Amino acid sequence: MNHTLSVAPMLDWTDKHCRYLHRLISKDVLLYSEMITTPAILQGDKQKYIGYNSSEHPLVLQLGGSNASDLAKSCVIAEEFGYDEVNLNVGCPSDRVQKGRFGACLMNEPPLVAECISAMMNVVDIPITVKCRIGVDNNDSFENLKGFVEVLADTGMKTLIIHARKALLKGLSPKQNRSIPPLNYDFVYRIKQYFPELTIVINGGINSLQETQQHLKQVDGVMLGRAIWNNPWMLYELQNQLFNTKGANSRDRVLKKYIQYCESQLSKGVKLHWLLPPVLNLYHGIPGNKKWKSHLVTHAPKRDKDLMVFEEARGLICE
Ligand SMILES: Cc1cc2nc3c(=O)[nH]c(=O)nc-3n(C[C@H](O)[C@H](O)[C@H](O)COP(=O)(O)O)c2cc1C
Repeated sequence: MNHTLSVAPMLDWTDKHCRYLHRLISKDVLLYSEMITTPAILQGDKQKYIGYNSSEHPLVLQLGGSNASDLAKSCVIAEEFGYDEVNLNVGCPSDRVQKGRFGACLMNEPPLVAECISAMMNVVDIPITVKCRIGVDNNDSFENLKGFVEVLADTGMKTLIIHARKALLKGLSPKQNRSIPPLNYDFVYRIKQYFPELTIVINGGINSLQETQQHLKQVDGVMLGRAIWNNPWMLYELQNQLFNTKGANSRDRVLKKYIQYCESQLSKGVKLHWLLPPVLNLYHGIPGNKKWKSHLVTHAPKRDKDLMVFEEARGLICE
């Protein structure tokens, strides 16, 4: 799997519609699902939770859980569904996730993470990876992080995505935990130096092609989250520069294809307002962008089957 560039898993944001849009813009970026918990997969409506569009490949399913047997069963289902890779979430700090004893608090339990990873690797052929933080609470030394990675590497796991800030498990909301603990890219670079055989992907606060290129001098891959949500068209420049492909698309052409996609989704009963969020920032930075967004959010909910709202909103962009 090519991990040079990926869009971060983001709950409620990187759903299948969002990923469809991202894939229209970049054919090589690695896409991630939102975090899906093992009970949702094992007991819930599988199609609803992990169904996707075939064009989304290469595609990673991110799992939340800490029961080795349930994670292994979920991996088998992920492989049957055709996912290219499965990632274990060891970075989410929410209270709900802590109560379930998974996410970031697992950084305090390296043997349990190793048990889970081994169980997952045993049952499928697709790669199993981990996304973690650089530490949690006072377990935030480099030695601690190195010890954690050592235990994971011993399982045979090959790829680790590191969000370069620690998580504070008490007192901060998940949102605050994505901005208040300071970024420490150096820890991630040093992990790559200690474990040159591992594919190390850096994440957190990366906002431009230039920053991405700087990080790629130190590590194997870069994962961007909010920067792509706020400006999905950045993927066009990243695709062209990092994968050396020439001018594939224009925003308008992407919009046209996304409208066709919306048409097919509407015919399946999907509501137009669910399809809007990913595309609201498509014209980020272009004059008229605010009017485009405002037209869509005002009119789409009232005219839930009328795709003309896109054409009308496009008319407000001055390009
Ligand atoms: C709305 C939102 C939802 C998120 N949901 C997840 C998630 O489901 N799984 C996960 O590992 N990280 C999640 N994250 C964290 C991101 O994957 C990423 O690690 C974090 O935003 C830092 O990267 P960035 O600065 O490039 O956004 C979420 C972030 C946001 C903004």
